[in-house]
Amino acid sequence: MLNILAISGSLRAASTNSALVAALARNAPPGCRVTVYDGLGRLPIFNPDDEGERTPLEASALIDAVTQADGVVISCPEYAHGVPGGLKNALDWLVSRDAAVAKPAMLVHASPRSLFARAALDEIMRTMSFALCGDVLEIALLGKKPPEVEAILAEAASQPAMHDALNAFADFIRAR
Ligand SMILES: Cc1cc2nc3c(=O)[nH]c(=O)nc-3n(C[C@H](O)[C@H](O)[C@H](O)COP(=O)(O)O)c2cc1C
Repeated sequence: MLNILAISGSLRAASTNSALVAALARNAPPGCRVTVYDGLGRLPIFNPDDEGERTPLEASALIDAVTQADGVVISCPEYAHGVPGGLKNALDWLVSRDAAVAKPAMLVHASPRSLFARAALDEIMRTMSFALCGDVLEIALLGKKPPEVEAILAEAASQPAMHDALNAFADFIRAR
């Protein structure tokens, strides 16, 4: 059984990115368990002085979750052509240690735009030595309200798309 950690880069209650990672968790194919990380908003702002023995509990929990996962899936909005601070902060807590090194990761997209954030995340995560799988899932949820989001995620085409993406990611993980 592969354990995949899914992270949404949005803290919004009605977040489309969070809806997408929740749907991935509900639709994981056999052989994959997807767990949604819910601590993004509780992480202290990264400070290199607070590493080692001073690492805050919430940061340790994130580091442990990434370390123990076989792979990480991230769905992230774009703010002002960049990666939202909350997600960048989470990634910063992972830089000076082994958690991200060679860790398989896949970016999934809830917006057909966000090309700057996609490119930035790709660059950041490669620099951190994540092993990035190619982009394989985009479900356009931008601007949709929760009932519409859930309807799109329940559509006949969405479920096989999520299965296929997770199966491709599982193959990528197993091939490493
Ligand atoms: C402060 C702010 C800045 C944004 N800047 C951009 C942007 O530069 N490019 C873009 O495509 N969308 C931008 N958006 C739109 C969000 O990326 C979009 O609404 C996204 O779906 C939000 O994700 P969520 O539903 O998971 O919260 C911005 C939204 C906010 C709130």
